[in-house]
Amino acid sequence: MGKIYRKLTVILFLCLLIYIKIQNETRQHFVEDQKRFYQRFSLNFPPKTSQSLEQWRHASTSCPLELLDDVASRWKPMVKLNPNRFLLPILKNGPNNQLSGLRDSIYISIRLNRTIVLPRFFKHRTDDAKEGTVYPRHRIDLQRLQKLIHYVTMDEFRNKSGGTIDAIFRVRPVSKPRYLYYERLTGINITDERSHLMKSVQLYPREELMADKRTLSIGSSRNELLDYYGSEKKYALFAQPFGNLKFSR
Ligand SMILES: *[C@@H]1O[C@H](CO)[C@@H](O)[C@H](O)[C@H]1NC(C)=O
Ligand SMILES: *[C@@H]1O[C@H](CO)[C@@H](O)[C@H](O)[C@H]1NC(C)=O
Ligand SMILES: *[C@@H]1O[C@H](CO)[C@@H](O)[C@H](O)[C@H]1NC(C)=O
Repeated sequence: MGKIYRKLTVILFLCLLIYIKIQNETRQHFVEDQKRFYQRFSLNFPPKTSQSLEQWRHASTSCPLELLDDVASRWKPMVKLNPNRFLLPILKNGPNNQLSGLRDSIYISIRLNRTIVLPRFFKHRTDDAKEGTVYPRHRIDLQRLQKLIHYVTMDEFRNKSGGTIDAIFRVRPVSKPRYLYYERLTGINITDERSHLMKSVQLYPREELMADKRTLSIGSSRNELLDYYGSEKKYALFAQPFGNLKFSR
């Protein structure tokens, strides 16, 4: 009997040691992660607050938002899309309409077989801090999206395209000031030195399909989408879609 108890005590003791080691390592990883995050934004680490590191650590672990350092798509997605053709949506209106616009863009990117570029979001116009854009990870669950499709970040897109685009998919006529707005928003060149659309950028759909229409209403079948946006161009900007796709048709 005594022998078994001694053995059990030794096993329990070993388990306890392993447990403590794992706890320590997890904590160390956590602190390292936070440190990287802080350094990336040139902040002091540990933060100079009245909170102790322990309190602060608790507050940041209880935050439901995951602080993803790297938002690049890493999962093997369910739907494989062409990695050499892209669709960069520019969103519009308030947060809900932006999400709706992104959803339609994702649908179109699958139908047209283009890799989606994660766009920047905007605050609601009633928000005091109207200026600036919102990182995608604050609005959508990127880990879930990665399981559906592969996406690229705006930085990755700029790298791949050499800082330009070669097509604009319109849902209504786009005016010159809009082009300049898109440039400011994306850091991508669209216009020439006289603020005209660059010659290399092709507009879609062709003019007949735009005629006498202010805002397009497009069926969701692949054929209809190809009619409007079928293109061999690699770097397409999707100009402010919202409610243009008709799924019931
Ligand atoms: C997209 O094109 C790739 C080839 O580049 C192909 O492997 C893939 O199945 C296509 N995906 C869709 C959804 O059509
Ligand atoms: C873009 O390219 C630059 C220069 O090659 C590189 O340093 C940077 O890491 C790249 N960024 C992304 C997001 O791919
Ligand atoms: C974009 O425009 C800027 C300013 O006009 C210019 O310096 C830069 O070389 C352009 N980049 C590309 C890729 O055309």
